[in-house]
Amino acid sequence: MCVSNFWEKLNKPIKVLAPMEDVTDTVFRQLIAKWAPADVYFTEFTNAEGLGSAGKSKVMYRWKYTEKERPLVAQIWGLDPQMHYKSAKMAEDLGFDGVDINMGCPVKKIVKKGACSALIENPGLAKEIIQATKEGAGKLPVSVKTRIGFRTIQTEEWATFLLQQNLQALTIHGRTSKQDEKPADWSEVAKVVKLKNKISPNTIIIGNGDVRERSEIEDKHKTYGVDGVMVARGILENILIFKEGQNIADLEINKKLEMLTEHINLFTKTWGEGKNFYHLKKYFKIYLKGFENAGSIRGELMKTQNAKEAKDFLKSLRV
Ligand SMILES: Cc1cc2nc3c(=O)[nH]c(=O)nc-3n(C[C@H](O)[C@H](O)[C@H](O)COP(=O)(O)O)c2cc1C
Repeated sequence: MCVSNFWEKLNKPIKVLAPMEDVTDTVFRQLIAKWAPADVYFTEFTNAEGLGSAGKSKVMYRWKYTEKERPLVAQIWGLDPQMHYKSAKMAEDLGFDGVDINMGCPVKKIVKKGACSALIENPGLAKEIIQATKEGAGKLPVSVKTRIGFRTIQTEEWATFLLQQNLQALTIHGRTSKQDEKPADWSEVAKVVKLKNKISPNTIIIGNGDVRERSEIEDKHKTYGVDGVMVARGILENILIFKEGQNIADLEINKKLEMLTEHINLFTKTWGEGKNFYHLKKYFKIYLKGFENAGSIRGELMKTQNAKEAKDFLKSLRV
């Protein structure tokens, strides 16, 4: 059953904000939605076994969201199909717009367990997980985010298998699990588009890997035939990447300080004591760059111990 597939209603190329653990939380997504919106948002990946356990409050913060961040896809990862069923059901009950299964994460301790990108080598379990997720997701569309292979490039066999699972969307990161230093291979992504045209024409294909400029989203759509493009690290370089012709580097210093202050305020309001102030520090570089002394100013800001100190320091910099 799938009665509300938001993916097929979006204009192409679809601009997707990638899931990034510890980065794309509700605060970050709300700011993107306000300043330079994406067409689709994902939660950070969240462990299905954790969500289905008595201690689920430890991971539920990853699923915190507001109405501003829509359509919003809940991303899950894990090993147990039953827990995927439960998590997908929770996602539907909690009002998400879709459920995505992570079959791409290369992190050693996760892959060692046989989860995420290791599922590329275990299609039997991958199939059970997809099936269980679909059953749990009810009316929500189910998608997979994956890579072009585990150790070696296996685009043809792996994408063929996935496209036979009747997914509403499939994100392909153009690298194998072992290739993080190499550039993403978009010609492999294009192969997936060709396969989908034959096997599952209604599946939306999202390409991912190394997109750093807004114009590349249209280029990838035209050149490789993808329906949409997902951006991860590019947003950290230019938080306005989804807005045509906008680059944070071009803004005046005061505007950058104001945006960072807004980020700090929303972080504090949203998380209170729930997330430590040090989590905020990774975002400073997004705003404090591209002007004289930016590096040393960042260094000073890194020394602050709480939101008030950080904001007072930013205020003192206003020109
Ligand atoms: C800090 C960080 C955290 C990430 N966390 C996730 C995650 O939770 N789920 C996921 O599917 N991919 C995750 N990724 C992978 C990205 O979504 C994306 O596939 C990858 O960075 C390639 O895209 P890019 O070249 O645009 O950065 C993460 C990447 C980074 C850099």
